[in-house]
Amino acid sequence: MELYIDDADLKEICRLYELYPIDGVTTNPSILAKTGRNPVQVLKEIRSALGSEAVIFAQVIPTDVSGMVRDAHALVSLLGDRTVVKIPSIPEGFRAIRDLSAEGIRTCGTVVYTPLQAYLAAKSGAAYVAPYINRIDNMGFDGVGMVKKMQDILDLHEYDTKILAASFKNSQQALDLCTYGIKAATCAPSVIDGFVNNAAIDSAVRNFVADFLKVSNGKASVAELIG
Ligand code: G3P
Repeated sequence: MELYIDDADLKEICRLYELYPIDGVTTNPSILAKTGRNPVQVLKEIRSALGSEAVIFAQVIPTDVSGMVRDAHALVSLLGDRTVVKIPSIPEGFRAIRDLSAEGIRTCGTVVYTPLQAYLAAKSGAAYVAPYINRIDNMGFDGVGMVKKMQDILDLHEYDTKILAASFKNSQQALDLCTYGIKAATCAPSVIDGFVNNAAIDSAVRNFVADFLKVSNGKASVAELIG
């Protein structure tokens, strides 16, 4: 499963990118607004921090077809080839996804709340569709169940589109979807840290170090003990 950081805080992005096997960063206008800074400048800094190979998802702002296509071109020229342009999965968005796919620009049908929205974005040629698990849960529906249904539809009709599951509130949701074979997930830094936030893991690591020190004459590593 591809794993992305759903955040625009450069410090957090760099911390996670250094430690975890992360594929890139996903943003949306609200995530960028949380930085309180010029969104174009923030996107440029994320690209420069991650390098040209990382995948960055960035969203168009207009809601008409030509405006979406124009913003998509602007984002690709700002951030380079390894950019996936997020397009809201509304009627105008499906058309923009179709036009951009024909040009070879990779898109993500975002703001997905229903399986049929995912179907339409996939059929329009989106490389990804991004359903919002937590927001679906908050509407009184089963977000994880809804995403599984979307995956079933994509598999059944043999679309290459990957689901980029988004809006997680905990690692259980990520585990459920990873187990189901969802191809990509984007999570806030706290949710990614939560994948390994477990007292038993910390205690096991502490015990291994303590046991080594009992017989290593105070040397705190194998390299040090060899000398
Ligand atoms: O990027 C879109 C999605 O992750 C939104 O998440 O937490 O605002 O529901 P959230």
